[in-house]
Amino acid sequence: MINKFINQHILDLKKYDPVDSDKKLAEQFRLDEKDIIRLNANENPYGPWAGIKNSFSEIKFNVYPDSNQDLLRDSLSEYTGLDKNQIVAGSGADELIECIFKIFCKKNDVLVDVQPTFGMYSFLADSIGMKVIPFDRNSKNWEIDIGKLKSEISINSAKVIFLASPNNPTGNLLSNKDLKEILQMDILVVVDETYFEFCGETSAGMIKDYKNLIVLRSFSKWAGIAGLRIGYMLANSEVVDNVFKVKQPYNINVVAEKAAIVTLENRLDLQPNIEKILAEKEKFRNFINELAEWSMPFPSDANFILCKFAKNRGEFIFNKLAREGIFVRSFSNENLKDCLRFTIGTIDQMKKVKKVLLKL
Ligand SMILES: Cc1ncc(COP(=O)(O)O)c(C=O)c1O
Repeated sequence: MINKFINQHILDLKKYDPVDSDKKLAEQFRLDEKDIIRLNANENPYGPWAGIKNSFSEIKFNVYPDSNQDLLRDSLSEYTGLDKNQIVAGSGADELIECIFKIFCKKNDVLVDVQPTFGMYSFLADSIGMKVIPFDRNSKNWEIDIGKLKSEISINSAKVIFLASPNNPTGNLLSNKDLKEILQMDILVVVDETYFEFCGETSAGMIKDYKNLIVLRSFSKWAGIAGLRIGYMLANSEVVDNVFKVKQPYNINVVAEKAAIVTLENRLDLQPNIEKILAEKEKFRNFINELAEWSMPFPSDANFILCKFAKNRGEFIFNKLAREGIFVRSFSNENLKDCLRFTIGTIDQMKKVKKVLLKL
């Protein structure tokens, strides 16, 4: 009876498929929780800056956080080189994606979803009753046919497009040339740079020339604080002003705020871990390349690698790894069948992955 009060598009909504907790995985695969190796969420296996916990001792937990995010935005301004009024932080990049839909979109507006990509774009669009039009990347190298994409945008009068660069799960970058072509259209363009620190490529410099460009970043991956939920947006100040209207006033809790500030102050200390991940990624890519004629890695500019295996091998390998406590990401999309995405773990974790794969 309660269903008659619930919006139809919510009744139709499929639940987002998040990564399972270690506890749940341990129960499901009859493992000891401490043996679980999480290579399924692109988390940083080395964790945060070493001094982070000590920095929390000064926090006043009884006081609400700064709704205006002044200290945090000052730090982000110094880090990004953009003006403070072009920056706003969110509870993960996820919250900012939701704010974008809230500000710019309504029921029946169109999102062209350039697939395969991060699932939250279409999930959050569905959650407000938008029309999601799928647009496939070229499955050989995951590049986008810009001519075709432009006509898809025009035909559907699409309101917004999200272009992750590097893209998750494919790992490839968006070229500046392709981005400019889309920016010249009448559409809001969100470049999601959640993996920026692993490649150093950014579109933030184009914000001054294109009012319709929004850049998203995150502390979840490079900074090793996914659990604290913090990300930020770079955009022109009119967009940022409107995010301040729709975001929850105290969206960044005091711990996340402090963590982000000390992470930025000590970012040089985190660089060696980023470099270890990148070096291990190259080693793993070569390993998959040489493993067998039925295994192929796609090039990646992020902290993960998408690998394609021979027909029906993906699920088999997923299960073999899972039985050893190693969890990678599998996919239900048709064009990612037989693909698995491996987050790059520590050197020891990757040794274990290779050992299991070699046994195959
Ligand atoms: C492309 C992309 N954007 C955004 C996110 C979410 O980031 P956050 O943890 O900051 O919400 C992810 C997480 O996997 C991602 O891959």
